[in-house]
Amino acid sequence: MQAVERRRFLQFLAASPALASAGMTSVLAEETLEAHELAEHLIASPDDALDVFDFHTAAKRALPSSHYGYLATGTDGNETLAANREGFRNVYLRAMRMVDTREISLQTELLGHALESPVVLAPVGSQKAFHDDAELATAAAARARNHLQILSNVTSTSIEDVIATRGEPVWFQLYPTDQWPVARGMLQRAERAGARVVVLTVDLNAGSNRVMLGQYSRADSRDCMACHSGGFDQWINAKPMYAGAKLTEANLDTPGMTWAYLDRIRSATSMKIVVKGIVTAEDAAAAVDSGADAVYVSNHGGRAEASGWGAIESLPEVVAAIDGTVPVMVDSGFRRGTDIFKALALGADAVAVGRPYIWGLAAFGQAGVEKVLEMLDAELRMVMAQIGATTIEEIGSQHVGHRS
Ligand SMILES: Cc1cc2nc3c(=O)[nH]c(=O)nc-3n(C[C@H](O)[C@H](O)[C@H](O)COP(=O)(O)O)c2cc1C
Repeated sequence: MQAVERRRFLQFLAASPALASAGMTSVLAEETLEAHELAEHLIASPDDALDVFDFHTAAKRALPSSHYGYLATGTDGNETLAANREGFRNVYLRAMRMVDTREISLQTELLGHALESPVVLAPVGSQKAFHDDAELATAAAARARNHLQILSNVTSTSIEDVIATRGEPVWFQLYPTDQWPVARGMLQRAERAGARVVVLTVDLNAGSNRVMLGQYSRADSRDCMACHSGGFDQWINAKPMYAGAKLTEANLDTPGMTWAYLDRIRSATSMKIVVKGIVTAEDAAAAVDSGADAVYVSNHGGRAEASGWGAIESLPEVVAAIDGTVPVMVDSGFRRGTDIFKALALGADAVAVGRPYIWGLAAFGQAGVEKVLEMLDAELRMVMAQIGATTIEEIGSQHVGHRS
């Protein structure tokens, strides 16, 4: 019986939209991992890190195999995961000299929020799988470094506790279910807790093929059922945001969702709506026509469809379609200050990261998340000084070129 439950749970992990995860047969997708995996390069403290990939190696060492697989997995042969990194190579930086860059500011604004940095914490579900302090450690780090945090609705910690720790409202990400009353209840609870923005994720409506997660799970000899007894139904209904929902696995898929869903959200809440998971000009235009307050370019960190198309490559057509009408956010594959700078130069207003801060969390808890954010900010400042832009607003299309 336990074996059947374990298999069902692993199958669910490999297919569920609620667990948007990553896996990687191609090490190339995360660059320097192989070199850093050498034991002598393992960092002992956050301050030893040279770049965020040092946290990847440390996280891989710290996590059980299946939990690492959940974090790392892409889909199919990890085509999109790899493209998210490779896409940056086709965009180069154009440095403008003789600019006074003694004062650099990362301050910016997004949907009425004043931000100290355009680097945002993307929604990542089930953070207890990576560290006991889970979303509270992330919130404490976001508070210490003053970054915007987006909370997944598959959070291991309630939105009320996360907001109390963050000290100000987080944005609330929603995976809809096919049970509207459940989604409505979550939206209203998030708004009551203080959230002013909902991020609707639209790129995982009917599962994804997380092969690498399956590979890492198979290699895990521990008894998953010791923690995940009761399989999917018990697991999802135990999540704080799903309390009382009584969902089954099937309820997490929403293949029938269309743009009319935004009207439904508006009927339930006055939170602003960001649509996450857009990769085409057509959908960007449709999102704006449907009343989205911002568009979020993302391929779920390569965990949705195996398009083989990087997020940085999707960004320009979305920016062109939006034409300044609403803010544009982007994530998927951002690991360095140069990556972030390139997106800002291509017209993004903010850039989110997923795995990098979770690597920090898994390896060192709150201190690791803080250090990842500190490094990304420091790298971005350095690029701005090198390229000759002193504010986020000054970064523009003149600062990048495209290899043909
Ligand atoms: C372990 C994991 C869990 C995730 N959970 C969610 C989630 O609950 N909701 C969501 O919209 N996106 C989720 N994502 C996707 C992230 O929000 C983000 O799009 C992605 O991580 C960005 O790519 P990056 O990891 O390369 O930075 C998850 C990603 C990972 C790695």
